[in-house]
Amino acid sequence: MKPSTQAQRSVTFILQPQIQTIAPRPRRGRSTLNMEKKVYETFNSDEVTDEMLEEASKLFSENYGVWGEHAAQLMGKFAKAGSRVRLSKERLRNEYLPSGISSYVRVSVNGHLAGNAFSCRWSVDGRTICWITQLVVHRAYRERGLAVGLLNETRLDGNDIYGLMSSHPAACLAALKAFGHSFNTVSLEFMKKYAESIMKVSPVTYVRDAKLRGSLFDSKDTNGLVSSVDTGFFVDHEEPLEALALVRESMEWPLGELLDGHEFILILQARRRSRSRSSSAPSGTSLTET
Ligand SMILES: CC(C)(COP(=O)(O)OP(=O)(O)OC[C@H]1O[C@@H](n2cnc3c(N)ncnc32)[C@H](O)[C@@H]1OP(=O)(O)O)[C@@H](O)C(=O)NCCC(=O)NCCS
Repeated sequence: MKPSTQAQRSVTFILQPQIQTIAPRPRRGRSTLNMEKKVYETFNSDEVTDEMLEEASKLFSENYGVWGEHAAQLMGKFAKAGSRVRLSKERLRNEYLPSGISSYVRVSVNGHLAGNAFSCRWSVDGRTICWITQLVVHRAYRERGLAVGLLNETRLDGNDIYGLMSSHPAACLAALKAFGHSFNTVSLEFMKKYAESIMKVSPVTYVRDAKLRGSLFDSKDTNGLVSSVDTGFFVDHEEPLEALALVRESMEWPLGELLDGHEFILILQARRRSRSRSSSAPSGTSLTET
């Protein structure tokens, strides 16, 4: 502001101290919420009760998303456009939590289930793959780091490789952060080379059946996909596309476009906190970076 030469200068003393709290501005559409008591719990698949899965099923069915415009036509009448995607507790157990090799992590905020993550482990060439088979955070608790927290809890020293397929860029960003990466440290070459051999022996049917798509896996693929899978899952993409546009405002997004019926795929080599990077990849196995 241009100072006036004519105006008399005066100083006002305020006797009552005025206190103003400076807090980070909430992101667009984000309400303020009391996140006081956050509790993370981890269970092996065999400790997960039907009651817990009932709650997880409700969380998913109320918060995951809605079917896309062409879902009914391509998947069956059950997938009516605009209606909520649902998952029963039986499907959660049978398809997302294979017995003996899976984990369930949940987070509650002030006693309410706010999010959960399912993961399944298997071996390829002596290396342990940990695949995030499902991740969902309650709408009211999003963008507060809960997805990162859930995946952080899934992180185990014995895991060598982490995998995730998701249409939501935030799920990919959460995985990067939780597993000690950024897009600068992700090896697309590693994904290109080993995605197929890792996925084809997965005990999780939808991972095994997913078709790798994008220029990373097929140089002739020119429709904008880079690291994608065709899962034939026609969930509405309005929300993830909005998130993608927002993410692209602040960073290079290396996984390419998102098409209907497709999801992004991310495969990360575990980064040990206490050991050097090279010691995390045992020599003599074929799943090592070149
Ligand atoms: C994807 C999902 C699990 C993210 O949960 P969340 O608790 O909001 O995620 P976090 O707060 O931990 O955020 C993780 C990262 O994504 C970013 N992010 C979260 N939501 C975002 C959005 N809508 N737009 C842009 N970025 C977003 C965060 O800023 C953070 O990035 P940063 O670490 O670089 O700051 C949640 O949106 C969700 O349940 N979506 C519906 C279900 C789904 O798509 N699940 C994935 C299937 S595997």
